[in-house]
Amino acid sequence: MERTLAIIKPDGVAKGLVGEIIRRLEREDLTILALKMIWMTKEQAKGFYGVHAGKPFYESVTNFMSSGPSVVMVLEGEGVINAYRRLMGATNYKEAEKGSIRREYATDIEKNVVHGSDSPQSAAFEIAYFFNELEIFKR
Ligand code: TYD
Ligand code: MG
Repeated sequence: MERTLAIIKPDGVAKGLVGEIIRRLEREDLTILALKMIWMTKEQAKGFYGVHAGKPFYESVTNFMSSGPSVVMVLEGEGVINAYRRLMGATNYKEAEKGSIRREYATDIEKNVVHGSDSPQSAAFEIAYFFNELEIFKR
């Protein structure tokens, strides 16, 4: 069993997509082990996206991530990291597969509605960044 960190980003929350995205996760049998709404500070967003520090989009994406509330979740399932990344679609919604969340709802390479960890290492870092073990449901 694998875990991943999923985020419904500020644009997704603002567009009223929380229910739609959670419905897709449940339909695909990705189990939600933890869920909360947070409004990241700029500092929190910078720490979260620390791997991208120095890249041209770092300043802008961390402003965006701290621009409003997000929903953060821990998901569990067999191969959940890749399964959820497939559900999200490519970073650039124009390249995302038809039917994926980003293809359907993103409006911009930056405002792309959802986040998902990209490896077991990033999942471990990102889950611990937002949740302590007591907040994560044990099944
Ligand atoms: P990245 O980790 O490369 O993408 P993903 O979210 O698919 O794992 O980048 C993190 C976020 O940074 C991405 O979701 C949107 C933003 N971003 C840009 O605004 N411009 C870019 O050129 C890239 C690569 C990312
Ligand atoms: Mg990434």
